[in-house]
Amino acid sequence: MDDALLAVERRPDRVIARLNRPHKRNAIDREMIDALHALCAELEAEPRILILTGAGEDFAAGADITQLRARRAEDAHRGINANAFIRIRELPMPVIAALDGYALGGGAELAYAADIRIATPRLKIGNPEPTLGIIAAAGATWRLREIVGEGLASEMLLTGRALGADEARAAGLVSSVHQPDELMSAAHAIADRIAAADPLAIQHTKTALRAGRDTHPVIDGELQAELFESPEKMRRMTQFLERTGRP
Ligand code: COA
Repeated sequence: MDDALLAVERRPDRVIARLNRPHKRNAIDREMIDALHALCAELEAEPRILILTGAGEDFAAGADITQLRARRAEDAHRGINANAFIRIRELPMPVIAALDGYALGGGAELAYAADIRIATPRLKIGNPEPTLGIIAAAGATWRLREIVGEGLASEMLLTGRALGADEARAAGLVSSVHQPDELMSAAHAIADRIAAADPLAIQHTKTALRAGRDTHPVIDGELQAELFESPEKMRRMTQFLERTGRP
């Protein structure tokens, strides 16, 4: 880890990226967005699991309001945060968000872009954007609805009410809750499970999960066809059958 705005630790099967602006509760500024794009380029070229987390006791308390205040209509059309979060969502390998403390506004939307979210009991996750005179335009209006359903998403987005860890867990917004000193080991345990599977099968699972409803089941068949021909499938299944003594 280093003192960059996005502190990145690289391992052979995973990358750990830490939003690193703790004195501003990791508020996401343009430089951090640029660093996230650079990281995406790296992970698109060399797919690995990504664990996203925040330095200090928060994930991120939003997009940087100093910069947001200066943004004008043309900046909104550019979708500065939205496009970065879409790129994270579309990374070939899974993204795990490990959330502590505040995950608000753009910070929540970055978390919604992850495939798997886990949290600590200190979590406060939500979208107070209208209180600042804007909408949550970096994914909340569609992704939060897909994750928790329209009823709760509408309540969260229209009232700005943030969920605590228990409610987020009950709503399926986070899949497990861990004490702060165990958060990263829990994230790594999830990454270990993913890393034990065939990377191509994981990538294809993610592609199928992201595909539009009208593309099923054709897309599943296409992805499976490629895997049915793969040497790794043959190797893994043969290993299973030999281990269990079946021909
Ligand atoms: N953008 C820019 N700076 C932010 C920020 C954001 N989204 N969130 C927090 N900060 C800064 C604060 O301005 C403060 O900076 P300073 O020490 O230089 O004054 C520092 O981070 C610490 O935050 P502070 O507000 O003093 O902490 P707190 O414990 O009193 O409150 C929050 C924490 C998260 C409730 C409060 O910071 C907050 O409401 N932040 C904005 C949340 C938001 O609306 N996000 C949506 C943006 S899209």
